[in-house]
Amino acid sequence: MKTPIRVAVTGAAGQIGYALVFRIASGQVFGPDQPVILHFVEIPPALGALDGVHMELDDCAFPTLAGVVKADTDHLNDGFRDCNFVLCVGSVPRGKGMERGDLIKINGPIFTNTGKAIQEAAASDVRVVVVGNPCNTNCLIAMNNAKDVPSDRWYAMTMLDQNRATSQLANKAGVAVADVQNMTIWGNHSATQYPDFFNAKIGGKAATDVISDHDWLKGDFISTVQKRGAAIIEARGASSAASAANALIDNVKAIVTPTPAGETFSAAVCSDGSYGVDEGLISSFPLTSDGKTWKIAQGFDHNEFAKAKLDATVAELRGERETVADLL
Ligand code: NAI
Repeated sequence: MKTPIRVAVTGAAGQIGYALVFRIASGQVFGPDQPVILHFVEIPPALGALDGVHMELDDCAFPTLAGVVKADTDHLNDGFRDCNFVLCVGSVPRGKGMERGDLIKINGPIFTNTGKAIQEAAASDVRVVVVGNPCNTNCLIAMNNAKDVPSDRWYAMTMLDQNRATSQLANKAGVAVADVQNMTIWGNHSATQYPDFFNAKIGGKAATDVISDHDWLKGDFISTVQKRGAAIIEARGASSAASAANALIDNVKAIVTPTPAGETFSAAVCSDGSYGVDEGLISSFPLTSDGKTWKIAQGFDHNEFAKAKLDATVAELRGERETVADLL
């Protein structure tokens, strides 16, 4: 039998957790021959609900699920012990009237502890994907509190934004989603993100050649992707959960699978200064993976329109970094 992969999921009793853990346990992420041990981390009041999730997992009798470990947030090291992946979904949601800065301050300390525990307890090959918002800056905090864990192991999720943008382009062009490639999200997972249609391809051609309505691309397309999360809340009365879990699965698969030639995927990683993004910021880029680590794809052109969008989202990330400077 293969050695099981250990995958920690924080906030496992939440709505994304509920849409996520069954799919990981079923073999959809690492394959039908790869056993998985799930490590669930929750705050103490959510442990009862977590037991319910565990019972349901047992009731699925997944052949690929080799075990479940549960830990509360007072025992993070137990939760992350020997984990190869840590998926940081849990965080405090934005309440009514709460500013983004307030949310950053509330969630920041969660991620200092998360970073320290990952460094102390996780496997030496650990890879971390942060989903809990504000995910770029939470990831920055965790990474800076785990200086022994190499900086290429840290990701914040913008795959949901990429998937949203891909669907919008495919619908507009009247093609299948599989025909859309290189649909990159740049910058922050927030309303300032830049969904880069200029470098996207549809059926191998520039998206701007296939879609002639450039006003739509520069206007409604970008704002629809940027504000999709709010539109889902308005329609559903709850934030995106199944699509977020699905994007996280896509993100982990993109990390562990060598990227096919010519393709890229979006995730926020530690900037090496590429494309003028300040070194050390966790910013979304077009990436390729060799199955172990990522490279930022080079050669994506940015015209004046794109440069202004990229500058705005990077400025926001810089501001967030200043807000949490004492936690880094
Ligand atoms: P939820 O509120 O349903 O679940 C969050 C869970 O996290 C709860 O069970 C809660 O008990 C737990 N939790 C709270 N503090 C924790 C801590 N310190 N450690 C571990 N667990 C903790 O929220 P949902 O819908 O599952 O969303 C989770 C996060 O994902 C939110 O921050 C949300 O904004 C973010 N999100 C990010 C997306 C992205 O594309 N990056 C997309 C959608 C959501």
